[in-house]
Amino acid sequence: MKYYLAPMEGLTTYNFRRAYHKYYGGVDKYFTPFLAVRNLSSRERADILPEHNEGMRVVPQILANRADVFLNIAGEAAAYGYPSVNLNLGCPSGTVAARGRGAGFLKFPEELERFLDEIFDKCPLRISVKTRIGAENVEEWERLLELFGRYPMEELIIHPRLLQEGYGGRVHPEAFEAAAGRMKVPLCYNGDLISLETVGPDGGEAEYGTMGWLTSRLPEADAVMVGRGILRRPGFLTGDFSLVTLRAFHDELLEGYIRIMSGDTNTLFKMKDLWTFMGESFDNGEKHLKKIKKSKSLWEYRIAVDTVFREQEQG
Ligand SMILES: Cc1cc2nc3c(=O)[nH]c(=O)nc-3n(C[C@H](O)[C@H](O)[C@H](O)COP(=O)(O)O)c2cc1C
Repeated sequence: MKYYLAPMEGLTTYNFRRAYHKYYGGVDKYFTPFLAVRNLSSRERADILPEHNEGMRVVPQILANRADVFLNIAGEAAAYGYPSVNLNLGCPSGTVAARGRGAGFLKFPEELERFLDEIFDKCPLRISVKTRIGAENVEEWERLLELFGRYPMEELIIHPRLLQEGYGGRVHPEAFEAAAGRMKVPLCYNGDLISLETVGPDGGEAEYGTMGWLTSRLPEADAVMVGRGILRRPGFLTGDFSLVTLRAFHDELLEGYIRIMSGDTNTLFKMKDLWTFMGESFDNGEKHLKKIKKSKSLWEYRIAVDTVFREQEQG
């Protein structure tokens, strides 16, 4: 099985990817959070600069519903030497979807078809697609699959939920199965994977969200993309749950953001966002998270983090 790091806006930045790759790794491809500005913003450009992504296989992701915008961004990626880009048809965020981008684009199959025709015709790079299975109704998936099947995409990454489902409830595994029956390209599964367990707690059937569930329920998956599971427990792909590694990873991230971000407040925002997920690596995560979230300076933040790690060590 191949593993991909999911793109997560504001979280899986190049600073995160570099530190993760250094201390954990085990990821075959890293997808950048979406790039959406026709002429890349300086933050977006920094995220894909080759010198910020050395030693990793990185795929720039593009969020667009206009072919000229997609092609312009892909052109920049090509100039930096990337062999492929990824199209975002999965973002459910209100502001993105309301403008007909991300999963919002799935509501307009005719426009989507014209867009795909043009980008697959003109893009100098290989294109993979990351998609949801529709906007409001699982019946939309058939038509989308028929459409996707016409293009020579590098791979299709499926998050089997509808736009309107956000991240709630369970995924629709049958939609992934339907794709396996129809698509000739490699398929990547994405959604809710949180552990590599292959059997259930009592040796029985593997639970939802585990690797055992995925391989028995969806054996057609060629790869799996993981997002929140890695943020919650960075060691879950490699099996390294040591606090020493987690601390080194954390410190490198922090130092990176101190260098990159303008001002401590922005650095704190970044780190606090991450703790929303990473707090789950700690027993009593809630209590610790509060202290970290309340910190107003880097000095307070460091003390709160020291306490979290110390208490966990003392166990
Ligand atoms: C905070 C946040 C930001 C995200 N940003 C992106 C993004 O930039 N591009 C994208 O395709 N998906 C984005 N996603 C969706 C994830 O890539 C992934 O599809 C989703 O989290 C489900 O996978 P998981 O259950 O392994 O986390 C984001 C999700 C979250 C929670």
